[in-house]
Parts: sequence; structure tokens; C-alpha cells
Amino acid sequence: MDEKKVMLSGIQPSGDLHLGNYLGAIKNWAARAEEFECYYFMADMHTITVRQNPADLRRRTLEQLAQYIACGLDPEKNTLFIQSHVPAHAELGWVLNCYTMFGELSRMTQFKDKSAKHKDNINGGLFTYPALMAADILLYQPDFVPVGEDQKQHCELTRDVAQRFNHIYGDVFKIPEPYIPKAGARVMGLTTPDTKMSKSIPEGCVFLMEKPEDIQRKFKRAITDSDTERCVRFDPANKPGVANLMNIYSAVTGKTMEEIEAEFDGQGYGKFKPAVGDAVIECLRPIREEATRILQDKAYLESVYKAGAEKASYVANKTLRKVYKKIGFVAR
Ligand code: TRP
Repeated sequence: MDEKKVMLSGIQPSGDLHLGNYLGAIKNWAARAEEFECYYFMADMHTITVRQNPADLRRRTLEQLAQYIACGLDPEKNTLFIQSHVPAHAELGWVLNCYTMFGELSRMTQFKDKSAKHKDNINGGLFTYPALMAADILLYQPDFVPVGEDQKQHCELTRDVAQRFNHIYGDVFKIPEPYIPKAGARVMGLTTPDTKMSKSIPEGCVFLMEKPEDIQRKFKRAITDSDTERCVRFDPANKPGVANLMNIYSAVTGKTMEEIEAEFDGQGYGKFKPAVGDAVIECLRPIREEATRILQDKAYLESVYKAGAEKASYVANKTLRKVYKKIGFVAR
């Protein structure tokens, strides 16, 4: 009997993973599987609320799956799947649409933001997306849903919808708790040390799949500071660029700030920046090589997402059957 608590998270395959994603979050996910029964899925159905290039979406979905595995998410220990491969998501999504209020959906800040940004494509899916997300979650009866700040409101809504449903039909859904993950390193942009590393500022963003020479070039161009002392000292308020590089170096080498200060004592930034670059390159090398290998091994990747979808479907369909019965659909 497996008595582990269940955890589930969806990942939008909408961009390339970067060092901030890795050191800030993904790096810690491998260890979760020891404590929790974990489900992760590529939320391809969610991405089409915004227009996608079909070839890119297909490629990104597989690339991201390969990258997560390479980052340590072991498919033997986690259930990894693609959302659209488990039809129960769409099926329960429809049902929950009918138990989610127009007013509730209207209050979602992500809808307001996205509809302001894509004025030419304010489609129904963008509006009802939280009902699909509620279905994603409730199908697996998870105890926890790890959430970032931007998804808190959707998780709240999921709880409200689940409670509303349970109130009418009895205990069908477990009410999930948000799970605030242990914070990893907070990685800032290499050219913008006051804002988080983001793919929207590519000069300051190190992607997991980037070539070593490109990574090194970005570190050499990283912003440090303009003071005259030019020494490697941890002072986030006055030297945010240096502090960010030290944070990164510390995260990839395990060294403390004191050790780093001692290592580069009296050497200026000319030695420090490429040393951080080299350490990051070595940290990412096995991930990049493994992700590349997995992507080339189509049969392996397929076996992972097929097995994942099968396992996920089994659990999801159990919940779906219960729901269909409760609401009065005739059993197949
Ligand atoms: N909405 C999430 C995001 O934009 C992705 C997501 C979809 C998700 N379904 C989910 C996250 C279920 C957690 C649980 O990042």
C-alpha cells in the first residue's frame, strides 16, 4: 500500500527552460518523489488559449518533457504525461465549467491580464481555463498542488468549485491544499540584477540547452557594478549584480559567500565572471547532454509519456466515473 501524499503540477510548454527555473525550482523536484506520489503533466491544452504555432508546440512539449527528465524527474518515480493524452481532463473540464460561475471567472486576474494583452483573441477557452485547471487537479485527488504566486487564485477557485460540488453530491473530490515549495535560489537577470531572470530578456538569461560558449559570453557581459573597489563582496543592496553572480556560483558549487569572497580576494571581476560562467557550464552540461540524448531516443521518450498517460488515465477515469454517476449520466 502506498501511503504517500499525492502532489500534482501542470507545466505550460510555452518556452525554453532557463537557469532561474532550474536553480529556483526544478532542481528540488527530484527529491520530492521520496516523500510524495507526484504527477507532472505538460499542459498542452492550456497553451492553446493563446495562438500557438503547431510545429513549435509539438517540439516544445517533447523538449520540455526531455529537459525535466534530464533535470532529475525520474519517470520511474514520478508520473509524467501529456495533458491531451488523458481525455478525462477535457471531460471533467466540461462538467466543472457547469459548476463554475461566470462571476468567479470574471474575477481571475490572469484572465484580465491575458485578455488585455491579446485583445484580438479573447476566446472562450481563455475565460474558462480555470475550470479546466480545476479538472486537471481534482481528477487525481491530490493533497497538494505546488503553486507560484500567479496560480494561487486558480487554486483557490479549484477549492471553491470542489467544495460546491461536494456540497451537492457528497464527498467526491478531495480538497487540495496549496503547497509552497521550499524556495530555491532567486536568480536575477545577468543584465538586469533588479528583475528575475526571464526569457523575455534573452541577453541576461541562460537557457538550459544553450551552448557553453554562448553561456560564457553572457557571463562575461554580466552587469557587476560601477564602484571603484571592484571586489567580490556579498552586498545585495549596493552590489546587486555581484550578489546575483555570487548567489548563482554558490548554488552551483555549494560554496558559501565567505568561501567565495576568499576565493576571489584581490582578483577583481575579470577572473570572477568567467569562473561563474565555467561553473554554470559544468552544472548544466550533464543536463544538456542527457536532454539531447533523450530527445534523440524517440522510442524511449514515447515509452515514458505512454506509460505516464496510462497510469494517469487509470486514476483520472476513476474520479470521472464517480462524477458522471453522481450527476446522472447513464453508465457506458
Ligand atoms: N496554469 C498553470 C500555469 O500557467 C499550469 C497548470 C495547468 C497547472 N493545470 C494545472 C498547474 C494544474 C497546477 C495544477 O503555470
